[in-house]
Amino acid sequence: MKPPVGASVWESELFSYLIDHTTNEGKILEEYVSVAETTDSKALAYLINLLVEDERRHHRYFTELASSLKTEAELTRADPVIPRLDLDQVDSADLLEVTHRLLKHERADAKELKRLQKELHDLQHTTLWGILVEIMKHDTDKHIAILKFVADNARPKRR
Ligand SMILES: [Fe+2]
Ligand SMILES: [Fe+2]
Repeated sequence: MKPPVGASVWESELFSYLIDHTTNEGKILEEYVSVAETTDSKALAYLINLLVEDERRHHRYFTELASSLKTEAELTRADPVIPRLDLDQVDSADLLEVTHRLLKHERADAKELKRLQKELHDLQHTTLWGILVEIMKHDTDKHIAILKFVADNARPKRR
């Protein structure tokens, strides 16, 4: 990706940082992929491939951050890949209603996963099942953070 044209010092520095970090993430990703492809352990390959999925996504996030920064810095009319925060385009009461309902589901999920984790306790050193449940607990925390972000940024509609 070429650096943005006409960007401020801050924008240019942030852009290079994002690009450097994307390159780094790419290297880590390659290493994971080669471990997963060469190991004789199916368990190790399975676990490393979970990391590969995440690292691919991180790589995408960093690329999208750099691209969006470039779009904003160049002051073009184009839409950035990462949308601008336009939650004021929807009715804030509706938005809060939906997010609170979804948050309830996620919190119920979190409880359910805790119960399942206890259930699988005896298998924690003989199977990968426990670590999968643990990962889902982390995912649930992430889902809650996303929904909280939406709720915190629900704004009355602009007229
Ligand atoms: Fe990463
Ligand atoms: Fe979830």
